[in-house]
Amino acid sequence: MEADRLKMEIAQRMSTERYEHVLRVTETAKKLAATNRISIEKAEQAALFHDIAKFMDKSDQQHILETADEDPRLFSFHHELWHAPVGAIIARDEFGINDKDILNAIRYHTTGRANMSPLEKLIYISDMIEPGRNFPGIEDLRKKAAENLETAMESCIHQSVQFLVNKRAPVFPDSIDCYNQHLEKKGTVKL
Ligand SMILES: [Fe+2]
Ligand SMILES: [Fe+2]
Repeated sequence: MEADRLKMEIAQRMSTERYEHVLRVTETAKKLAATNRISIEKAEQAALFHDIAKFMDKSDQQHILETADEDPRLFSFHHELWHAPVGAIIARDEFGINDKDILNAIRYHTTGRANMSPLEKLIYISDMIEPGRNFPGIEDLRKKAAENLETAMESCIHQSVQFLVNKRAPVFPDSIDCYNQHLEKKGTVKL
């Protein structure tokens, strides 16, 4: 599907505010892709699709996840997490996206995970730092993203986990795995 028609399809499935967020994530992702030698086309596709399921009914999302035999742990966590794997399933089944890396970038854009690919990190970071976002520390994240994806990802997952812990919210295991792996890489944890 060509980009303009795809954008119309996506716009129809969400609020104007959310669609504008999607466009800002897409622009951020394309810029980061160019400076990190990641496919700009893949970054654009993953960014355009990343929130496609955000406005679906909770029950429809649950049905899709159950039918696709998705990770059952998702059902013990807030349904806010569901739109990411559901979005990957929709991108594949309704739009014929078969590229595993694009699908994984959509699937893990909310939780992160261990062993993320460069594209997965790129989408996770772009979603968090797009120009419409505003939270304490964001300028530092933007600066890091402009310098090094790996360092930016480490700071982004730290920020996300800390945010949840501070409000006593549960943290999905994939996010913990992502966080722990970054600590191990940095060598701050001796195993
Ligand atoms: Fe999202
Ligand atoms: Fe998003």
